[in-house]
Amino acid sequence: MPEADKEGKDYFLDIPTKEEGFFVKGSNALDWGMKNRLSRIFNPDSGRTVMLAIDHGYFQGPTTGLERIDVTILPLAPYADTLMLTRGILRTTIPPSFQGGIVLRASGGPSVLKELSNEEIAVDMEDAVRLNVAALAVQVFIGGEYETKSINNMTRLVDMGTRYGIPILAVTAVGKDMKRDARYFRLACRICAELGAHYVKTYYISDGFDTVAASCPVPLVMAGGRKIPELDALTMSYRAVQEGAAGVDMGRNIFQSEAPEAMIQAVRGVVHNNLKPKQAYELFLELKNKGKKKTTKGRKKK
Ligand code: R5P
Repeated sequence: MPEADKEGKDYFLDIPTKEEGFFVKGSNALDWGMKNRLSRIFNPDSGRTVMLAIDHGYFQGPTTGLERIDVTILPLAPYADTLMLTRGILRTTIPPSFQGGIVLRASGGPSVLKELSNEEIAVDMEDAVRLNVAALAVQVFIGGEYETKSINNMTRLVDMGTRYGIPILAVTAVGKDMKRDARYFRLACRICAELGAHYVKTYYISDGFDTVAASCPVPLVMAGGRKIPELDALTMSYRAVQEGAAGVDMGRNIFQSEAPEAMIQAVRGVVHNNLKPKQAYELFLELKNKGKKKTTKGRKKK
């Protein structure tokens, strides 16, 4: 029993209780746990996120740049708001002291040698809770051979996630033979949101991305895609956030960069500080050169 104390008397009767709207698009009606997890992904100051995607191994093995995640990716982790990865890499390689959000790959099955859309749910919700993840990511193949199955994976995860307070990220996967245009992405992103995804990862397109973002009632994060020159990747990120994306989920354009640490910081500048592509590229070059000097110095000492 606590000691008896005097009854309180400061009720601040002249100050109305604050009722804040939640800063993540479409999330106001969610429960506290969901919102708290979304705040581990989206920065409450900028409303945006830099997710570092390193989950490629789940269908294609040791991808260039990810052969040794302990060596190449851990130095980048402090600059990422969130890591997107598999539970295998999380448990084996990521220190539990990592402060950012974890977005766990929750679908999988086929390798690059097979039909990729034929995925199953690959993580139990209990394990996701045990790993204290901020969200689960599931691939959705609109127009793909196993379209319905992949949507069913997503809706089952949304149901389970709702039970436990874990948001679901729908990743729009586009088949090689499909046309990447605004019409397709409006369709794919809207279907994911309508069926319950809490946010959606999708590709940037130069014509009509703003309509994709506007017609999707939850946040979009821009997928990085194959490696392109740094200035182009920064320009694409800039356009995406200016046209309505709530950040990026980028892998190869960061970890396959000639200077990954410099690149992720430049991407952060674009996403969180609205740096223009040229400014961000200058920052990239400056940090890259600083890094080079450090390496040369280190080598000389040896
Ligand atoms: C597949 O769609 C996965 O989500 C990827 O493994 C990854 O997230 C793609 O990242 P990026 O295209 O930026 O390398």
